[in-house]
Amino acid sequence: MTGGPGVGVLLPAAGLGLRLGPGRPKALRTLLGEPLLVHAVRGLREVAAVGPIVVAAPGQDVEDVEARLAAFPGVTVVAGGVERPDSVRAALAAVPAEVRLVLVHDAARCLTPPRLVEAVIAALLTGAEAVVPVVPVADTVKSVRGDLVTATIERSSLRAVQTPQGFTRVLLERAHAAGAPGAHLHTDDAGLVEALGVAVRTVPGDEEAFKVTRPLDLEVAQAVLQRRRNRP
Ligand code: CTP
Ligand code: MG
Repeated sequence: MTGGPGVGVLLPAAGLGLRLGPGRPKALRTLLGEPLLVHAVRGLREVAAVGPIVVAAPGQDVEDVEARLAAFPGVTVVAGGVERPDSVRAALAAVPAEVRLVLVHDAARCLTPPRLVEAVIAALLTGAEAVVPVVPVADTVKSVRGDLVTATIERSSLRAVQTPQGFTRVLLERAHAAGAPGAHLHTDDAGLVEALGVAVRTVPGDEEAFKVTRPLDLEVAQAVLQRRRNRP
């Protein structure tokens, strides 16, 4: 991609990190001395096609986040919302008007390899309107009611979905528009697009794009980062 505004990235980082246990909002917890959010932005800035980055930060931390990200060019910080879709909408509203393609990327997937970001962008550039990285599911997955199993779900067709998820800007705006069907039921942005009946393309995900969710994930993230520093 040469010239133009580049691909915009919306970086939801306003969650509390309740599953990580007590402490600061998750994106501001540190990994080898730096907030998860700083690791996430550094990775995105390694991708030449990435243009403006809009971070949705916890409302009370906007100034702190601006200061921590001041060294990175092209980063805007806005206040996020109560639920993740609220944060995505707040960030989307702050993307410069000329940006046509956008990625939505969890700040909590702070060690996502730049090559995965490039793969999602490549799929958008070949005409996909919506793109998600997926990985096979390792565990057998069952439905339960109370403490009883009600069904075993055929695993071969299941995939776990990661971010960055890529969209044309017009499609993401339509999907997030007030009144989108079942908006509150969707845990990711692609789900909103599926609800509109628009095809979502998959690309192979990457296990290092895992989301820091529980305390063990922080230990894994630290090991991955340490290994990268020892053997870049
Ligand atoms: N997120 C956000 N705004 C919210 C909720 C979540 O911007 N109101 C962001 C988080 O900061 C994170 C990403 O969405 O980068 C994925 O959410 P999740 O892993 O659930 O993070 P938290 O909501 O912070 O964690 P928890 O659910 O354990 O509280
Ligand atoms: Mg959450």
